Amino acid sequence: MRVGDQHYRTVWVADGEDGVVRIIEQTKLPWAFEVEELRTVDEVCVAIRDMHVRGAGCIGATAGFGMYLAAWNKEDLREAGERMKATRPTAVNLAWAVDRQMRLLADAPDPVPAARDMAQMIADEDAAACEAIGTHGLGLIEAIVAGKRGGEPVNILTHCNAGWLAFVDHGSATGPIYAAHDAGIPVHVWVDETRPRNQGARLTAWELAGHGVPHTVIADNTGGHLMQHGLVDLVITGTDRTTFTGDVANKIGTYLKALAARDNGVPFYVALPSSTFDWECRDGVAGIPIEERDAGEVVEIEGQGADGVVSVRLTPEGSAAGNYAFDVTPARLVTGLITERGICAASEAGIAGLFPEHREGRG
Ligand code: MRU
Repeated sequence: MRVGDQHYRTVWVADGEDGVVRIIEQTKLPWAFEVEELRTVDEVCVAIRDMHVRGAGCIGATAGFGMYLAAWNKEDLREAGERMKATRPTAVNLAWAVDRQMRLLADAPDPVPAARDMAQMIADEDAAACEAIGTHGLGLIEAIVAGKRGGEPVNILTHCNAGWLAFVDHGSATGPIYAAHDAGIPVHVWVDETRPRNQGARLTAWELAGHGVPHTVIADNTGGHLMQHGLVDLVITGTDRTTFTGDVANKIGTYLKALAARDNGVPFYVALPSSTFDWECRDGVAGIPIEERDAGEVVEIEGQGADGVVSVRLTPEGSAAGNYAFDVTPARLVTGLITERGICAASEAGIAGLFPEHREGRG
């Protein structure tokens, strides 16, 4: 997507810069736009763990390039892959990208060009999948606008950041929104701030503003109220891991939005590339590992002060805090899944209909 007058992806290797992976350093947004260079697997691990890159597709692609750095630096590939996989447990794209590289590199006579080509392929596929998700999701928005008075916007609520920053390009949940906006359909996005790290307030809002999409940032607890008053036509979220039966792990708080949507008859869609399906896991609540992060992310909040970026404490000294990063929305609350192959029901049969090659060997 464009930043100023330049097109950026979230992770890339520049021509003529062998052994250097570049990322957009997302912890600096929205106050500064910085590109960071990664040269070792250790640096990739820090970038993923500390969320310089985050979002399922983006960390998968970064780990793909991390395997290229492992080969370039002649590191033990298996050990490097395991170290990267251990950085964040919930988004399945991370392990998927590492395992895909490992399968290839096991037989590669020259691992460096093989790993680089595969990393590029993973990144290109991620961008293409999100673009296709945009095209498929556009139909949902077109159907809603057809029932509105001329000029009235389609109000879409989203949680966290499943925009282009969470992928390589385009974004999953934002893909249909950008496609609709570009097609001249009036859209307005309710952006959940998404505590504790505020990926909605910081990243989704920055993205939408950069693309000129009208949006309003809301406190996390606002969605139910808006839905009760007919102010939300559609919810679209992303996901970090979706079971082959349609249970959706996504940023903490997503489940509550799905409950409110069901109670108010608002369609609740989840957008994902197929790299986010877990083809082994049947029961998301029991089977998807939920990352617990440092309680400091709850206790403190970061923002722009008069003299730069500052962190302030929110809670009394001595109050315990918990930081569960994701929750699982059961398939029964999900209206449909928007994938690169089209839209399907969030069910074993619906998913298998679009991805029959995964029918075998399910857990
Ligand atoms: O902790 P994060 O920022 O890596 O969480 C991922 C997310 O941004 C969301 O859960 C998103 O909706 C799904 S990732 C495409």
